[in-house]
Amino acid sequence: MSQDAKKRRVADAAFEIIRNKLDANTPIGIGTGSTANCFIDVLAASQVELLGAVASSEATAERLRSHGIEVLELNSTGPLPVYVDGADEADPRLNLIKGGGAALTREKIIAEASREFICIADDSKRVDVLGAFPLPVEVIPMARSVVGRALLELGGDPEYRQDCTTDNGNIILDVYGLSIVDPKGLEAAINQIPGVVTCGLFARRPADTLLLSTDTDILELSRD
Ligand code: 5RP
Repeated sequence: MSQDAKKRRVADAAFEIIRNKLDANTPIGIGTGSTANCFIDVLAASQVELLGAVASSEATAERLRSHGIEVLELNSTGPLPVYVDGADEADPRLNLIKGGGAALTREKIIAEASREFICIADDSKRVDVLGAFPLPVEVIPMARSVVGRALLELGGDPEYRQDCTTDNGNIILDVYGLSIVDPKGLEAAINQIPGVVTCGLFARRPADTLLLSTDTDILELSRD
């Protein structure tokens, strides 16, 4: 089965899990990327009633609006019952690397604001140890060199992502060469470097459920 077909199937599965929780008074959070886009398309096609969605990026907001789904402000909705988003890597504890699409900061904010985080992905994203995918770090532009040197000291090999400005007006450093055996510790260490907005490690607030699409099945994994 193609990767695109797997993404569509896992988006369907996520919708089936949450459809009973949705109604005209219920907002949800929606992430960014090709898998999240599949979920938006499923949601729109279902014509299920919902209050609207908080979007983790301008691209997601645009796609939601193009389907006639209202885009809501997180400051107005309060806590969200559920957040659905993809990932670049997921480990067995459902710690994630995210930010391949440069939306990591808003994604992390929405994940934090949500009671349930359902991560949807194809099985290529499943790893034993995070770090083969370069870890995205959103950085205030003037801090690029200072943060780069600090990341080198932490054992990584940071690379400036060319032609990328985040929705928040910042830059991304992609950190290669990490084998992330302590995701929570590394997340905290990177996030306290002055100039870092946030890193793409989701360990302080991991996913609650990981839906993984394989060639034959949808696996539903919970944190052990
Ligand atoms: C965007 C993200 C995405 O969730 C991640 O990059 C996965 O994207 P895709 O579903 O296209 O593989 O973190 O910042």
